Amino acid sequence: MISSLTKNKKLLAYVDEAVKLCKPLHVHWCDGSEEEYKNLCEELVKHGTFTKLNEKLRPGCYLARSHASDVARVEDRTYICSAKQDEAGPTNNWADPVEMKAKIKGFFNGCMEGRTMYVIPFSMGPLDSPIAKIGIEITDSAYVVVNMMIMTRTGKKVLDVLGDRSDFIPCMHSVGAPLKPGQKDVPWPCEPDPAKKYIVHFPEEPSIWSYGSGYGGNALLGKKCLALRIASVVAKREGWMAEHMLILSLTSPKGKKYYVAAAFPSACGKTNLAMMQPTLPGWSVKCLGDDISWMRIGKGGKLYAINPETGFFGVAPGTSMKSNPNAMLSITKNSIFTNVALTPEGDIWWEDMGVPPPAKAIDWEGKEWTPDCGRKAAHANARFTAPASQCPVIDPDWEKSEGVPISAILVGGRRPSTIPLVNEAFNWEHGVFMGSSAGSETTAAALGKAGVLRRDPFAMLPFCGYHMGDYLAHWLAMAGRTDRANLPKIYFVNWFRKNADGKFLWPGYGDNCRVLKWICDRIEGNVKAVPTAIGNLPKLEDLDTEGLNVCCNDMKQLLSVDAEGWKNELADISQYYEKFGDKLPKALKDELEDLKSRLAKG
Ligand code: GTP
Ligand code: SPV
Ligand code: MN
Repeated sequence: MISSLTKNKKLLAYVDEAVKLCKPLHVHWCDGSEEEYKNLCEELVKHGTFTKLNEKLRPGCYLARSHASDVARVEDRTYICSAKQDEAGPTNNWADPVEMKAKIKGFFNGCMEGRTMYVIPFSMGPLDSPIAKIGIEITDSAYVVVNMMIMTRTGKKVLDVLGDRSDFIPCMHSVGAPLKPGQKDVPWPCEPDPAKKYIVHFPEEPSIWSYGSGYGGNALLGKKCLALRIASVVAKREGWMAEHMLILSLTSPKGKKYYVAAAFPSACGKTNLAMMQPTLPGWSVKCLGDDISWMRIGKGGKLYAINPETGFFGVAPGTSMKSNPNAMLSITKNSIFTNVALTPEGDIWWEDMGVPPPAKAIDWEGKEWTPDCGRKAAHANARFTAPASQCPVIDPDWEKSEGVPISAILVGGRRPSTIPLVNEAFNWEHGVFMGSSAGSETTAAALGKAGVLRRDPFAMLPFCGYHMGDYLAHWLAMAGRTDRANLPKIYFVNWFRKNADGKFLWPGYGDNCRVLKWICDRIEGNVKAVPTAIGNLPKLEDLDTEGLNVCCNDMKQLLSVDAEGWKNELADISQYYEKFGDKLPKALKDELEDLKSRLAKG
């Protein structure tokens, strides 16, 4: 193999081997140029994968409709192939690495026949950042290439940084649909049988092999596969953290700036919080990232965070000028929409977009749709891919190579009952306990039943590349890496509490800044909290409710300890903890016991 872009021997040998295995018709090295992006989009239009949207309404934008079987991450087809099963732990699917490698190589044999193999050099993290990681994704999907070009830094500039280093992470991807000579292609090739999709991680090598899906986290391998599953293993070894967290900055009316990271499970509000428009006058929020945060102890012993991505792969349904105006403004141009509806004008539409539905449309499956047809026009996990640089409130420091110092970490999820609006941890260990017991009603972001409570420690259940018990021990151990005074304060938040009629008690979205304001007041020591059995809760009068339309009883419910609910919660957490056996850190067992006795005291 020769390439005009690199002389890196290991890389050339890797691509050679991939070509021998996958047997593509052509090989295309991605240079990451604007021209390349434009050409690939045009090809995707010609091919029927992309529909170009109305240039006047949505300049530079495209719509893709996936195969109906390929609409979300496939967690039950996702494997962590560590040397021993115990290293993957009870929450991951495990397979023997030697057996799985042989099996997956079998799938990849000839899998790109009749197709072009794209070689995408990409960097997770700013090119000049000492903590950035370089991956090489080999894929047979041009859709994946253009999405990776938005979501990560790609192309020649990455190869220039790589030079002749050999520490890139090989990421093999195929949609699993070779073409026989003369065979007609389809707009969204993939392996339709869910049981034949494989998202496989070899943390020891490390490498990633993904087969059969072209969608989101299954196929854009820099994101969940590299920046979370593989990076979490590296982070544990090297003493830093790879987390499923947004990063935002918050500036008070006095002009003081705070950086906050927040871990919520998929489709639980990260993108919304990351770029929210505060309803409180004088406060402003800027966005540094909406999905992934890499954090390490930096200058002055503080915890510094970078966003390894460059784009947003955001949930479309529910996004409106009312709920998330800055996301709506980020997607006015140069964006890709997947599984939303197409209007007769050549624009896009989805449920709860805040504009009336079109009289007719083409739905996400390509079928004629009318508002009264009884079906949703967009898939519940329909997504937009947009450059982060287009966000009107992108923080000026979002690409800073050393990151930004974090003052508070939030954990949360969709909890219709029991969990208060905001609850401050007594200390780091208590905060790790909170994170370990976090959970959510499941959502459409992964295939499977939605709406059932599942424990999801720090929103990392589907993304931790090793034993969850060791992961929690790693969180605890971070406290030993700096002075405790430098550690961020930890808060458990819940925007999703419901009343007896199933209505949300809290308005959420821009009003969540009221909770952030209280957190800043706590950081500054401006207000006292109410110490309770479960943590430090706000005094009613300290949560700014100026102009808020929530009745006093609802506010009380949002900010009180539900003794009955917590009894069930305790039982459920105890049962969940049993999963981890002797890998459950003693400090967390103690936290659980302490909580039990505090609750018993009433
Ligand atoms: P992933 O990209 O899957 O990791 O999701 P995410 O955590 O970024 O979630 P996102 O911000 O896209 O929100 C998902 C859904 O939750 C959307 O339909 C939002 O409208 C809804 N949502 C977000 N924030 C709030 C909130 O404060 N209150 C309520 N009720 N809904 C919210
Ligand atoms: C998530 O599911 O948490 C996402 C979307 O952010 S995906 O990239 O598909 O994983
Ligand atoms: Mn996510």
